[in-house]
Amino acid sequence: MDSRSLLSLTVALLSVLSPCLTRLTPRVSFPMGSPGRRLTLFSSPDVSNTTTLLLSEDGGMLYVGARDAVLALDVRHKDVMFLRSKLDWSPSEKDLEQCSMKGKKKADCPNFIRVLQFLNTSHLYTCGTFAFSPRCTYINSETLAMSLNTDEGRGRCPYDPYQRNTAVIVDGELYTATVADYRGNRPIISRHLSESSRVDLKLDDTLGWLEDPTFISSTFIPHEEKIYFFFSEVAREYNFIDKFIVSRVSQICISDVGGQRTLQRRWTTFAKAQLLCQAGSELPYNVIQDVDILPPAEGAPADDTLFYGIFTSQWAVNSGRSAVCSFRLADIKSVFSGNYKVLNRDTLQWSARVQEKVANPGECGLHNASDNALRFVKENFLAEDSVRPVGKRLTMVSAEHTYSHLTVQRVQGANRRLYTVLFLLTEAGFLHKAVLLPLGAHIIEEVQVFEPPQPVKSLKLSVPKGMVYVGTAEGVVRVPTFNCSYYWTCAQCVLSRDPFCGWDPVSRACVEVSGTQSSLAQDIDGGNVEDVCSSVSLTHKTRFGPNKLPAAPCPAGELVSVSLNEVVRLQCPAASQLSQQQWERPNSRLSSDLYLELEDGSLSFVATPATLGHYLCLSTENGYRQIIAIYHVKQKSSPMTQSPTGHTRTTHTTQTAASSGPHTSVRSWPKTTEWRRTDTKLSVTNTQVTTRQLGTNLTLWTESELREAVFPAEESLLSPRCPHYLKELVVVSILLVLCLSLLITMSLCVLRQRYQRKTSPQAGPLPRDSNRETPEEEEALNGNEVFNKHSGSPLHGGQSSSLVCNGTLTDSRQHLPNTPI
Ligand SMILES: *[C@@H]1O[C@H](CO)[C@@H](O)[C@H](O)[C@H]1NC(C)=O
Ligand SMILES: *[C@@H]1O[C@H](CO)[C@@H](O)[C@H](O)[C@H]1NC(C)=O
Ligand SMILES: *[C@@H]1O[C@H](CO)[C@@H](O)[C@H](O)[C@H]1NC(C)=O
Ligand SMILES: *[C@@H]1O[C@H](CO)[C@@H](O)[C@H](O)[C@H]1NC(C)=O
Ligand SMILES: *[C@@H]1O[C@H](CO)[C@@H](O)[C@H](O)[C@H]1NC(C)=O
Repeated sequence: MDSRSLLSLTVALLSVLSPCLTRLTPRVSFPMGSPGRRLTLFSSPDVSNTTTLLLSEDGGMLYVGARDAVLALDVRHKDVMFLRSKLDWSPSEKDLEQCSMKGKKKADCPNFIRVLQFLNTSHLYTCGTFAFSPRCTYINSETLAMSLNTDEGRGRCPYDPYQRNTAVIVDGELYTATVADYRGNRPIISRHLSESSRVDLKLDDTLGWLEDPTFISSTFIPHEEKIYFFFSEVAREYNFIDKFIVSRVSQICISDVGGQRTLQRRWTTFAKAQLLCQAGSELPYNVIQDVDILPPAEGAPADDTLFYGIFTSQWAVNSGRSAVCSFRLADIKSVFSGNYKVLNRDTLQWSARVQEKVANPGECGLHNASDNALRFVKENFLAEDSVRPVGKRLTMVSAEHTYSHLTVQRVQGANRRLYTVLFLLTEAGFLHKAVLLPLGAHIIEEVQVFEPPQPVKSLKLSVPKGMVYVGTAEGVVRVPTFNCSYYWTCAQCVLSRDPFCGWDPVSRACVEVSGTQSSLAQDIDGGNVEDVCSSVSLTHKTRFGPNKLPAAPCPAGELVSVSLNEVVRLQCPAASQLSQQQWERPNSRLSSDLYLELEDGSLSFVATPATLGHYLCLSTENGYRQIIAIYHVKQKSSPMTQSPTGHTRTTHTTQTAASSGPHTSVRSWPKTTEWRRTDTKLSVTNTQVTTRQLGTNLTLWTESELREAVFPAEESLLSPRCPHYLKELVVVSILLVLCLSLLITMSLCVLRQRYQRKTSPQAGPLPRDSNRETPEEEEALNGNEVFNKHSGSPLHGGQSSSLVCNGTLTDSRQHLPNTPI
């Protein structure tokens, strides 16, 4: 094998590998009720199914379509969403009776509002399912007063509340895509409310322009004077596969008024094309779930408009997975202006046969065209080419989360560069915030927004107010798009890689990035704490003087008084879900004979003369090490002072740490621990020690300073005694680890692909629990991370890491939050 084929083999292997390296674990998790992310909930006993959302332009008012009601919520206030007005609009008893008589479930017969749009400056237009007999009406946007007459809603609103539909109003005309019959098998894209010379239009349904579609969304692009519809449908053009689903984008021109004889009162500008969310030759993610539009950046051409979509797959191989793809408007336009497939009218089969082009399908302004030309566009509406995603690749893939909705925003970082931030709603009820980076997506955080699964839900982003709204059957939840103050050190702020947040060295706080402030520490692309937080460390060093020996204020850790033979358990809360914790003792390794590292990161051992002394819990993330906890385990001076925490259940400690610790809330924390000491000979009492609220009384320390404070006479592995050797050692190990990891991950990936990905391909991060991977893999992860994000020597954090510690030396027994009474 020559070197070139070797190279191409490597490239091929790497491309197979690349999806495997995607890490999609949210860095921090805010379970329901967590103080780090306050949710505002609007719910009311007489309101339910609040799933159709419409925001006013300034983001101050949220209109909500619910069951038998339309609400106007004032959302300008920080802590509450006020109900400003409410329109009750329900079917009569007679209507409900008829609905039940037709065999529909009673629960599906109320009026579920499914269309809610601004009509003009004073009125909204709304439609509801109205006991399987859809109705529409005008409502005053101030008072929510309804017009006296209601319109028939056929073709504007689905009959069945579980059927998806989409609608948009442009210049007072309503464009909708929905099913137009009771059984739900007459899909239609149509225009309503047209006046004077303009006529209402719909699809010609003789040729099957749509095949059992699921409508997802619609957008008006003013620059094109076109409306784009997104949906999935059964692909007739691939007749060799049974019920093969494809995702589509279709277009119509708002100037359309239909043909004069041919295509009278029918669209002359309808065209559709396949949207392909597919990487290379892998199976496509073929079923579109949601789409959001990202307008071009300021000054960029309209053609740079992007559409971000969530796609899932119809095949079991990819079940439970979802992918995000983005499509550029320019690419959609070029597909629509290209060639079209030809439909054989007798067999209804598609072909790519070249025929004389009589007209350009998809072109606006065909109303005076000849019958011949109109017949041509009537039969040629499926573009030959597919719209491929930007960069011909998937924007992100998640093996463990099924996303159902998304919304997208462009955010300017402290470096003035623009970053794309996605808000993704999972089926399990979590809202993920992800920033798109050259090497893939980084999930900054997840916030739990609902608990029971929701068949119908919706997501709306208010950019001016920095809020995300989630509508479910139970109510509307509002989530701030960021909370910088949650990150209480420069390291946490930078590691978050949140484009909204930067560390202000002056106020020593993580603050919102604004146009006026330029000196904020932030590194979204690299998350490199040591580079951007160095100024912070310097400030701090001068505070304590050059001789480094801190006098009194910093403790040698939590004092833990134990009796010999007692089982000690030291807690170490995770700094984030991407960090790895590690326990250290000065100058000694923690042998597995004596020490048990538990699933939740805590350390357990039996107090003996050999195990008394200092313990450090270190957390490594993105190559940056920081001390999470320091303990000093000492023998009790008097046997009379019995620990009040004896026999305390670990459960409480853990939960308290998880919910009140300002810097961590890890959903995966076990509620109970399996591990229990059964050896009764030792007269075991459990001592649990929790780190204290680290955020309340902050002092920054470097690790080396601390080490000197804690272990003045001892030598630790990371002691800067022999920094040169250390450096070399680190570099060599990184290289070794990299090679090893690449090999291992490659073979793993190949294996996994072969097994049709029955297991998750995601390499990391390591869940700190039972399915801990091999040390090689663990190292491989470290290696990759270092390789990806660092140019310097990241494992060298010993010199500049900072530590947060509380002001006084305290006996942990005195402030254990779980002391039983
Ligand atoms: C932001 O986080 C801080 C610290 O955890 C918390 O006190 C505050 O309530 C949070 N704010 C919001 C709006 O969630
Ligand atoms: C908005 O439309 C409604 C219904 O057609 C109409 O009654 C109202 O006068 C319009 N308002 C304005 C400001 O045009
Ligand atoms: C198209 O027909 C309309 C009348 O139907 C006429 O007013 C208009 O001038 C014609 N436009 C063109 C481009 O022929
Ligand atoms: C309406 O809400 C109920 C729960 O309150 C839920 O079971 C039902 O599926 C919802 N219906 C629709 C159409 O969303
Ligand atoms: C920090 O801790 C010290 C010692 O306990 C205390 O005197 C001081 O008031 C604390 N500062 C704050 C801001 O809580």
